[in-house]
Amino acid sequence: MTLPGTAGLDVATGPAPDFEPVDRRLALIEQKLIEQWEAAPFPRLAETPADKGVGDHTADDPYWRFLRVMPRAGVEPGDRWAVAFSDSVRDLLVRTYASSIPSPADISWIREVSEGRDLLEIGAGSGYWAWQLRQAGADVIAVDNKSATWDHMWTDVAFGNTADACLHAERALLLVHPPRESAMAQTALDFYDGDLLIYAGDETTAASRGFHATLTREWTEIGAAPHHPTYVGIPCRLRAFRRR
Ligand SMILES: C[S@@+](CC[C@H](N)C(=O)[O-])C[C@H]1O[C@@H](n2cnc3c(N)ncnc32)[C@H](O)[C@@H]1O
Repeated sequence: MTLPGTAGLDVATGPAPDFEPVDRRLALIEQKLIEQWEAAPFPRLAETPADKGVGDHTADDPYWRFLRVMPRAGVEPGDRWAVAFSDSVRDLLVRTYASSIPSPADISWIREVSEGRDLLEIGAGSGYWAWQLRQAGADVIAVDNKSATWDHMWTDVAFGNTADACLHAERALLLVHPPRESAMAQTALDFYDGDLLIYAGDETTAASRGFHATLTREWTEIGAAPHHPTYVGIPCRLRAFRRR
C-alpha cells in the first residue's frame, strides 16, 4: 500500500516542524499528512477509543502523535485498529520507536490489568513501551541483551536477558514482540515463577511455536486490550495471561 502524499517528498526541504524531531523524514511526513487530512479528511485513529488513555495524564508520545494522524487501514473487523504504511515508512517507525505500537488506551489497559503491580520487561528494545508506562506511573524494570540496535533510546534499558525473570517473580512479566522463531520468550517463561504475563504479539509474527503452545497449555488468557493498533498485514494482539 502506498502512503498517500509521500511520493516525491523531498526530505531536505519543507517547513520546520514545531517540535524537535528524532527523524526529520518522519516529521515531514507527519506534517504533510496533517495538511492532506485538513484538505480532504480520511479515516485515521485520532479521536477513536485507541486515542484515549485514562485520566487527564498526557504523555510525551511522539510515536502515537505520528500514528494517530496517519491513514487507517480500513474498518474490517480484523483491521479495526490498523494503520497503513509503505514498508519504508514502517521500517523507519520501527527503528525509531518500537516494533509493536502502544496506544494510549493500551498503556491504560496494562495499568488496569496489572492492578498496580510492578513490571519486568525483557527484550525492551529502544525502551519505548517502558517509557510510556513509566510516564503513566508504572514501576518498570526494562532489560535487553542489546542483540538488536535502535536508532534512539527513549528511557533507561539495562543490559539483561531472560535470566532476569528468575529475580522478579513478584512483578508482572511484559514481553512485547519477542523475536520470532527464537527461544527467547519461552526461556523467559521458564525462568519466571510469577503468575502474570502481558504479551504483545501473535502466533505468526512473534516468539516461537513452543511459546504459544506453552501459553495454551499452562496459562489462561484473562484479557485482551480492546484497542491495540498494529500495522496492516502484521497481526499483533496485546493480551494478559494468568498461570494455571
Ligand atoms: C523484535 S525486538 C522487540 C523490541 C521491543 N520490545 C519492541 O517492541 O520494539 C526484540 C528485542 O529482544 C531483544 N532480545 C533478543 N534476545 C534477547 C534475550 N535473550 N534477552 C533479552 N533481550 C533479547 C533484542 O535485542 C531486541 O531488542
